[in-house]
Amino acid sequence: MIRLSIAVAVLSVAVPAFAQDDFPNRPVTIVVPFAAGGPTDTVTRLIGEPMSKVLGQQIVVQNTAGAGGTLAAGEVAVAEPDGYTVLMHHIGMSTAPSLYASLPYKPLEDFKMIGLVTEVPMTIVGRKDFEPNTLQELVDYVKANTDTVTYANAGVGAASQLCGLLFMEATGTKLTEVPYQGTGPAMTDLVGGQVDFMCDQTTNTAEQIKGGTIKGYAITAPERNPALPDLPTTAEGGLPDLNVTVWHGLYVPKDTPDAVVQKLNEALKAALKDPIVVERFAELGTTPVADDLATPAAHSERLQSQIDLWKKVFEAAGVQPQ
Ligand code: MLT
Repeated sequence: MIRLSIAVAVLSVAVPAFAQDDFPNRPVTIVVPFAAGGPTDTVTRLIGEPMSKVLGQQIVVQNTAGAGGTLAAGEVAVAEPDGYTVLMHHIGMSTAPSLYASLPYKPLEDFKMIGLVTEVPMTIVGRKDFEPNTLQELVDYVKANTDTVTYANAGVGAASQLCGLLFMEATGTKLTEVPYQGTGPAMTDLVGGQVDFMCDQTTNTAEQIKGGTIKGYAITAPERNPALPDLPTTAEGGLPDLNVTVWHGLYVPKDTPDAVVQKLNEALKAALKDPIVVERFAELGTTPVADDLATPAAHSERLQSQIDLWKKVFEAAGVQPQ
């Protein structure tokens, strides 16, 4: 009897250890919390290719859009903690706790962090035939036409919604928001002229601005961006406090073994040095993070500090959780 329980105990330790050594022995899914064709999807697919080479397994990108990115985060939080379900999320992981009265997950407690991926500036953009031509003209126009101007975003908790809140705060306006499942479909409507303007990451706007299918008003960064050298900064356009950088990171459920986290982290670090990723990121106005930020520790520190920061910003602005 005693011998049998020792054998069972040894077996129960040996099985997970083997499973970790073997990881990954089947495709790994990265869940994107917004629609296909948008900025989060683009970044994920770009790093997914070189990550799959390092892991020796296919990476499947799954778009689970809804509730400003919180639907996917809630699903990954309770997924099997075996490394086969990974979440790509952005700054929304840190804003959601202040924007949602009841969130189905705790960002800091329910996940292990794999590492940061990239930091992307945003751009304020309008439909091609929208009347304003500069940021200052946009501000004046929006103030004069508050009731009719439409502003696209990807729902409460999305980066585009955050940037819109900051824009409204900076201009003292209250706009009509048109929510989408992601800024991929929002961009389709902006190009088609169905909405007036939005604020979105360069990874979704740089090529449209350069191609002239939409109007670029400003980049939400202190410096101009090499991918869009003609686009003024928000400070140049008269809104010096409107600076937003959208940071991205990879997450797994909290009970995922450390050895698996390490393998995913090694794949991430290699992907961020891949020449095609570096080149494509640059064309889209961004860069991979440096090695010291592509770590669980740096990622966790960023998440904590950003949760604290946005809580203060929203409280000061009187934004209530819904
Ligand atoms: C997306 O991928 O659609 C965006 O990241 C949405 C957003 O956060 O604005």
